[in-house]
Formats: sequence, structure tokens, C-alpha cells
Amino acid sequence: MAKAKTYYFCQECGYQSSSWLGRCPECGRFGTFAEEVVAASSTQKSKIKSQQSSVPKRIEEVTYDETRRIETHCGEFDRVLGGGIVPGSLLLLGGEPGIGKSTLLLQTAMAIHDRRLLYVSGEESEQQIKMRADRIQNTKSGSSDLYVVSETVTQRIFEHIEAVQPDMLIVDSIQTISTEDVDSPAGSVSQIRQCTSEFQHYAKSTGVPVLLIGHITKDGTLAGPKVMEHIVDAVLQFEGDRNYGYRILRALKNRFGSTAELGIFEMEGSGLREVPNPSEFLLSQRDETLSGAAVAATLEGARPMFIEVQSLVSSAVYGTPQRNANGFDMRRLSMLLAVLEKRCGFKLGAKDVFLNIAGGLRVSDPAIDLAVACAVLSSNVDIPISPRVCFAAELGLSGEVRPVSRLEQRIAEADRLGFERIFISKYNLRGLDRKRFGIEVVPVSVIEEAFRGWTRGAAMESR
Ligand code: TYD
Ligand code: MG
Repeated sequence: MAKAKTYYFCQECGYQSSSWLGRCPECGRFGTFAEEVVAASSTQKSKIKSQQSSVPKRIEEVTYDETRRIETHCGEFDRVLGGGIVPGSLLLLGGEPGIGKSTLLLQTAMAIHDRRLLYVSGEESEQQIKMRADRIQNTKSGSSDLYVVSETVTQRIFEHIEAVQPDMLIVDSIQTISTEDVDSPAGSVSQIRQCTSEFQHYAKSTGVPVLLIGHITKDGTLAGPKVMEHIVDAVLQFEGDRNYGYRILRALKNRFGSTAELGIFEMEGSGLREVPNPSEFLLSQRDETLSGAAVAATLEGARPMFIEVQSLVSSAVYGTPQRNANGFDMRRLSMLLAVLEKRCGFKLGAKDVFLNIAGGLRVSDPAIDLAVACAVLSSNVDIPISPRVCFAAELGLSGEVRPVSRLEQRIAEADRLGFERIFISKYNLRGLDRKRFGIEVVPVSVIEEAFRGWTRGAAMESR
């Protein structure tokens, strides 16, 4: 038995030190170090016999079978994974508590009929899992070969695996699992690291894919699981606003597919429903006479998403005007307001400005800028923008309208959704065949042009 050693770990980022530190040199946080006892050797690894001995091969000789991926029968999930779960892979599904991680994986497990699955939960009892399964299984027929067990110690889990011999393993929350080899409590950095490497070893040596659930903290970082990020093959993040039904699944890292893909779900009373056409779903049916709303043609990952930006501009009641943004970066909003003020002469300095992205989404695509600026202006002058108009351009610091990536894809989607006009940057015109689209493409070079463009349109329509 190797001697146990004591180390100090930053509980935020997993930085390891032999002495206690007040401030973590890695992530810069204060007071995050905790003492953990680490046994130098692991007994688990020797138990699992490696089936393959590795021999160096020429790269041409290496073969793989793409069809061996396990399809989850959930289009959105498969899309994010890059076409199914790769045998022997280790996946981490992260998300805030209550967002629907357990629901997603249980639902997926129940949909896979042709494999034997083992769902290990360290959080819920078998009865609770069954209750959830009954809630989900209203429409889906047939019985799946799914085994569930409530267990928190890896040594027991591997005994269950031995008995069940599953084709896929799901572990509900790595933070609740502990190994007897490490003395520190479940959820601590050394426990998470040790348990993850045990599951990794199991996955790699047997070819059984392992899906781990991990909780993340409010600020969006994977607490503790930061140390897992480089061990696992893929990191999927499940996010959304709990007050809304939409859930977005994205890959932050994926060794077997693109990280540009995105899966969209809606949480319903009977589990998660896939949303193949998010734009049709996100655009609210709105009154044409209301000012302050503009539609942005954004891309989330590789998918076009049309999002409504709502703004309210009113005279400030207090000395300091208020600025508030939901789903949009506050600093970016301040910058856009400064541009409108300085370059375009719109007096917004003494106004309260509120901005909201409909549907509780968080958007980081810069192509939303023009829609944000136009929504603010529309509310400021109280002239509505037609709901059949959309925008796709970034704004520069001097008020210039800048080009965005993959414009054709955005225009094609706008056309498909029945928009009549799309405002784009003049600098995006090169190589663009405007005649291909039924929609009117309006190129602009500065923000005032866009403003004149839609206010004239609005005036003509109201006539
Ligand atoms: P859950 O999967 O337990 O979240 P996590 O594992 O990420 O902590 O799901 C949490 C929420 O989802 C819970 O508040 C209830 C809701 N929910 C539904 O709306 N419909 C359903 O069918 C299920 C199972 C859950
Ligand atoms: Mg859960």
C-alpha cells in the first residue's frame, strides 16, 4: 500500500499545490484551497484487464468503423455528438442544477432499444428514476434494456458493471461519486479526478462509452469538472433560462465531431422535445404597429436562428440613466449606444435603455448588432419596424456597418421564413448573387442608411 499524501487543491480550477495558498495562481480566486488526502496508487486500474496491447502502426493501416457509433435516436443530440456516441468514448454533460441533464440522458437511454444500458445515479433512488421515466414514457413504446441503480462508490459501480455487462454507462453526476482510494469527500477535486480517470480507463479498455453528468456553477464554469475537461473526449453543455422552455445543447469540446453544432430542445411536462426549426419557434407573432422590435438573422453554431430583439427607450427619471440588457452583453450595448450617440447624433445619453432578447436566449453572434441598434432607434423615435424586415450585420466603432460570416446561409433562411427585406453590410456584397433570392437584399454602409431604409419603408406601409 503506497503512502497517502496530502495536497491542497483549488476547488475552482483544480490547481494542485503542496502547501496552502490564499490565492490560486492559476485562476486568481481567493480562499479556494482545500486539503485533500491522495493515495498514491489506485487498485481499480489493475482490476480491469486491458484487452488490447498497443502496437505502433502506420497511419494507413489504422482502420475504424464509422457505423459503429451508437445512435441516440434523438436527432438534436446526435447532431451535437457528430452522428452518435463513439464506442469507448468518455463524455461529460455539464449544466446548472435543474436544467434537465438527468432528463436528457434518461430519455436518451430509454430511446436506445438495441443496447443494454446501465444508469447509475448518485443523486436519486431507483424509485425516483422510475417516476421520472414514467413521466417521460408516455408516447414511446417498446421496452428498453435499461438497468438503473443508485450507487455512489466506484468500487460498487464496477461490481454492478461486472454483473450487468452494459453496452453503455451513464453516471448521474460525477460530483456525487467517490472512490475508496481517495480520502477526501465526494465532489472534491481529487475525487473527481480519480473517479473520472477510473471511468476513462474502463471506457478505453472495454470500448463501452461512458456518459458523465457534471454540475456547473452559476458563472458558467464547470466547478471541479474543470479538471475533467482535458481527460474526457467531449464536453457538452446544456443551458437555457429556467423560466423559459428552451434548452440548448452545445459541444464545448468534441474529439469526434464539430463544436459548431447545436441542439435545441423544449422542456415539456413529459420530458424534452426536439426543436428542429428554432426560428419559426422563436419569432413571436407581433403587432406591426409596435415600435422597438427588430429581427436579427443570427447563426448559433452552424444553424441560422432568427431572433427578435426588443428595446425600450424612455426619458430617464433619475439623474443617471439606466441601462439593462437581457441575453445581450451589457458592455456591447453601451458601446452601440455610444456609437449611436457620437457618430449618428441620436441623443440617448439622457435616456433609459432596456434591451431584451426574446425567448430568454443568450446571443454572442456579432451579426445581431444592427438589429440591436435599429430596435433602440425604433423605440427612440417611436416608429415600428415591419415584422417582415430582418438585419444581419455587425457595427463598428465609427458607425460603419460591417460584414458578417456565412451571409448567404442567413439570407436563404430569411427567404425561407418569408421575410421581405434583409439589411446587410455593403462590404458583404462581393461574390453575393442577390438575384438568387426572392427576398430584397438591402446593402448599407453606415447605420443612418439602415435607419432611413426602414423608416421610409414604414412610412410607405402606413400610407
Ligand atoms: P432534471 O433533469 O432533474 O435536471 P438536472 O438533472 O439538470 O438537475 O430536470 C429538472 C427540471 O425539469 C425539473 O425542475 C422539472 C423539469 N421537468 C419537466 O418539466 N418535465 C419532465 O418531464 C421532467 C422529467 C422534468
Ligand atoms: Mg439531475
